[in-house]
Amino acid sequence: MESPIILNYFTISVSCFCMLLLYASTLNPVFALKNCTFPAIFNFGDSNSDTGGLSAAFIPLTPPYGETFFHRPAGRFSDGRLIIDFMASSFGLPFLSAYLDSLGTNFRHGANFATAGSTIRLPATIFPAAGGYSPFYLDVQYIEFVQFKIRSQIIRQKGGIYANLLPESEYFPNALYTFDIGQNDLSEGFFSNMTIEEVNASVPDIVNNFSINVKRIYDLGARSFWIHNTGPIGCLPYILTNFPSARRDNYGCAKPYNDVARYFNYKLKEAIVQLRINLPLAAITYVDVYSAKYSLFREPNKYGFELPLVACCGYGGKYNYSSSVECGGTITVNGSQIFVGSCARPSVRVNWDGIHYTEAANKFVFNQISTGAFSDPPIPLAVACHRV
Ligand SMILES: *[C@@H]1O[C@H](CO)[C@@H](O)[C@H](O)[C@H]1NC(C)=O
Ligand SMILES: *[C@@H]1O[C@H](CO)[C@@H](O)[C@H](O)[C@H]1NC(C)=O
Ligand SMILES: *[C@@H]1O[C@H](CO)[C@@H](O)[C@H](O)[C@H]1NC(C)=O
Ligand SMILES: *[C@@H]1O[C@H](CO)[C@@H](O)[C@H](O)[C@H]1NC(C)=O
Ligand SMILES: *[C@@H]1O[C@H](CO)[C@@H](O)[C@H](O)[C@H]1NC(C)=O
Ligand SMILES: *[C@@H]1O[C@H](CO)[C@@H](O)[C@H](O)[C@H]1NC(C)=O
Repeated sequence: MESPIILNYFTISVSCFCMLLLYASTLNPVFALKNCTFPAIFNFGDSNSDTGGLSAAFIPLTPPYGETFFHRPAGRFSDGRLIIDFMASSFGLPFLSAYLDSLGTNFRHGANFATAGSTIRLPATIFPAAGGYSPFYLDVQYIEFVQFKIRSQIIRQKGGIYANLLPESEYFPNALYTFDIGQNDLSEGFFSNMTIEEVNASVPDIVNNFSINVKRIYDLGARSFWIHNTGPIGCLPYILTNFPSARRDNYGCAKPYNDVARYFNYKLKEAIVQLRINLPLAAITYVDVYSAKYSLFREPNKYGFELPLVACCGYGGKYNYSSSVECGGTITVNGSQIFVGSCARPSVRVNWDGIHYTEAANKFVFNQISTGAFSDPPIPLAVACHRV
């Protein structure tokens, strides 16, 4: 009897195939997910994603900021584009205008509430005081968003150019909400008289405050969240220079400072697990930017980079960084003026100005995180609207 065997074989192979599919989709649910069509991005954060907010409100940046891509200062704390710029481009969306910028802005496809120096919690000292942080901390960014959401719809009714420069109401529930904030809450602690242990102990409150804001944005109808954790702050020249006696790890980063960043990330991830339970309609992706950035310090050569701990645009010392003169400034040495400009090849450098990354590093990090390899759940940026 040949046919039953054939039939049997066929049945077996069909069921094998189905099991394989089932197996593949259990292991890798991403296969089944369609790309999202995000009509807009609303971003909250600090200088890691500020596309011109602080610069519009306070001190404009000067050359060589922006030189690599924009060929002029573009409100970004880098020589070129930021991770958020690469994200917007990947969806075919324009770069995000800063909410605080009153000139030439287009909010049709989103708005950026991030400002350099922003913290999650109210900072003790604000700009322009020395050592100050941004007055636009996360609670304020939330209030700005509330106003933006309401007022943009009122102003759209004027029609014409107003309608074109502002998002449609249905963009809000369908938009991607991105976050990159927390680094300044840690550095504010480090640069005050708190011990590392005290800063570390403040982390749960900071993260709790963050969670409350995510929930409030959800309550306004946001559904897709892409949340960056905080980077390896202990690998940045501003920490390395100011805390020279801090213990170094194998790659020269200040270990205790990175330990606090990792504790922040641990608590953030825990908070996001809770948010997924509390916000049943939200797709919330936690993105381990820390690990993507840290690979640049661990194996710079492998990725085409060099001198990851040294600022490209800075002055003095082992890390080419000094808090007394910043990138774009001038310093008088032995009676002659020295302009603090760019290094020769920013395209192979990780650190731009002692605190921020180069466009090349930002692009590398974007390429790493957009695949989903650093996400929890492990979904690529393109499908981050799906709750899995
Ligand atoms: C989905 O998005 C990714 C990333 O932008 C892109 O590479 C891919 O071609 C898209 N797939 C489809 C089916 O559009
Ligand atoms: C966050 O913390 C600040 C103090 O730093 C507090 O004023 C504010 O009410 C908190 N925000 C939320 C949403 O809990
Ligand atoms: C730290 O303490 C010193 C001495 O008490 C004080 O002069 C300084 O202003 C403090 N710094 C900060 C940031 O609180
Ligand atoms: C931070 O606090 C957590 C929880 O108490 C602890 O496990 C961790 O070792 C602390 N890290 C540092 C750097 O103090
Ligand atoms: C400034 O002059 C002193 C004395 O001539 C010299 O030792 C030092 O190297 C000079 N510093 C710089 C940055 O040129
Ligand atoms: C340090 O910064 C200066 C600008 O002040 C730049 O010319 C120089 O190339 C930088 N050094 C390194 C090693 O990148």
